[in-house]
Amino acid sequence: MLIRAENVSKIYEMGKVEIKALQNVNLDIEKGDFISLMGPSGAGKSTLLHIIGCLDNPTEGSVEIYGQKIQNMKDSQLSVFRNRHIGFIFQSFNLMSVLNVYENVEYPLMIRKKKVDKEKVFKTIESVGLLDYLKHRPDELSGGQRQRVAIARALVTDPDIILADEPTANLDSKTGEKIISLLLELNSIHNVTFLFSTHNDNVAKYAKRVIHILDGQLQQ
Ligand SMILES: Nc1ncnc2c1ncn2[C@@H]1O[C@H](COP(=O)(O)OP(=O)(O)OP(=O)(O)O)[C@@H](O)[C@H]1O
Ligand SMILES: [Mg+2]
Repeated sequence: MLIRAENVSKIYEMGKVEIKALQNVNLDIEKGDFISLMGPSGAGKSTLLHIIGCLDNPTEGSVEIYGQKIQNMKDSQLSVFRNRHIGFIFQSFNLMSVLNVYENVEYPLMIRKKKVDKEKVFKTIESVGLLDYLKHRPDELSGGQRQRVAIARALVTDPDIILADEPTANLDSKTGEKIISLLLELNSIHNVTFLFSTHNDNVAKYAKRVIHILDGQLQQ
């Protein structure tokens, strides 16, 4: 089992009001899975992805990655663990605007203590079809190209799983479907595990497994 979320709840206290963003969520993810997490705005998709991605802690319950409970880790341990196992693609891409395509993709390897494998950086950029754009900065790229840089940056560390929060939300539907086909190809050729959230049926239909979430609860 790659990831096991057990009885995960997340409660936000807003003054006197409690918001139950997640309630008793149980989810197992196997190596090679390609899962879409579907639900309307406010359903708890981002909250769940952040918790699985070790960016946030649950109020109750536990998340294990390869049998290791992430709640028990110190912050410094956690960031190394995250860098080694998890790739994150954010809705707004979160690229660094002063860095070009090559530098953005190289970045997660730069922060490791080892020498950067430049060949690996080029190969990863090639896999998302952007070799002709190495010197372009994000503001010199289209939305779909930026999204592909974000995918390459998530892939370059060979993570066990890539979590993508609405990877197609800021793209027109045609570009969005192209991005999903690219993820699917990476999944079938390189066995990369994906969990991505979406509102969109057209995008969700590509997934091998669709999970529905509503009001913080997974629908069986
Ligand atoms: N930091 C926070 N403080 C308080 N409430 C929060 C916080 N983050 C999220 N929430 C609430 O938790 C619930 C789930 O939010 P979440 O962002 O996970 O939804 P989502 O499914 O990703 O929605 P969207 O599709 O709009 O991105 C919502 O009711 C939201 O208002
Ligand atoms: Mg969200």
